[in-house]
Amino acid sequence: MTDILDTETRTGHIKLHGPEGFEGMRKAGRLAAECLDMLTPHVVPGAATGDLDDLAREFILDHGALPACLGYRGYTKTTCISPNHIVCHGIPGERVLREGDIVNIDVTVIVDGYHGDTSRMWGVGAVAPRAKRLVDVTYEALERGLAEVKPGARTGDIGHAIQSYVESMRCSVVRDFCGHGLGKVFHDAPNILHFGQKGSGELLRPGMFFTIEPMVNLGKHPVKLLADGWTAVTRDKSLSAQCEHSVGVTETGYEVFTLSPIGEFKPAIQSA
Ligand code: MF3
Ligand code: CO
Ligand code: CO
Repeated sequence: MTDILDTETRTGHIKLHGPEGFEGMRKAGRLAAECLDMLTPHVVPGAATGDLDDLAREFILDHGALPACLGYRGYTKTTCISPNHIVCHGIPGERVLREGDIVNIDVTVIVDGYHGDTSRMWGVGAVAPRAKRLVDVTYEALERGLAEVKPGARTGDIGHAIQSYVESMRCSVVRDFCGHGLGKVFHDAPNILHFGQKGSGELLRPGMFFTIEPMVNLGKHPVKLLADGWTAVTRDKSLSAQCEHSVGVTETGYEVFTLSPIGEFKPAIQSA
């Protein structure tokens, strides 16, 4: 399925894109963000995750785009919906969201061949202070990573900034999943690790596109994969949070392609 949806094939080398690529990513990133904006009023106690996924799929198709995850390596849904101790790749279905849950919804759309990949965290009704704190730490971790993105920096600078901040907040960074290059390919070079050493990894150059998508646990970092082959959960059953942007390296820094046009990349969380 990968080669049907990926209009170019993944290669080892890191692609450098020009103005046309930036234009393509702006459109794809914006639609992905608008899809999550559309879901926000539906992320409430009693909502079934499968119904949220249906809304996302219909929204994407109605906008003349394609859901990148549908059929990707055998995945059968449009979104990944990951509440509480699910780290990532939760499969939407019968599960119903409950008051106090924290939940990540991750969506990737394809517009004119370009992939817009983004995820956010919501609180379902009022959530416990430690859950809200985890979400705050996760968003700040993404910000710290983004702040490193400029020509001449290295991918390890991003990982180092995220890891050192997260650990200073007594949380942990998941090691088993990383950010990735993207563009006309969904998951491309380079890997963007959310931990690591300053000055290590690939050199950033203008025209590179990739995601930053840290997964942060309240407990320890190890994860385990459930029998469905997709759902990753924290081994210690601690809460986990994630947020994701697709970005491009510019001459002076970076451009975020997946900002919410209505300023709701970070949905407000009510405290219990
Ligand atoms: N959107 C996820 C990412 O951030 C990928 C999900 S792949 C799927 O890269 F097949 F699980 F949907
Ligand atoms: Co991604
Ligand atoms: Co994603």
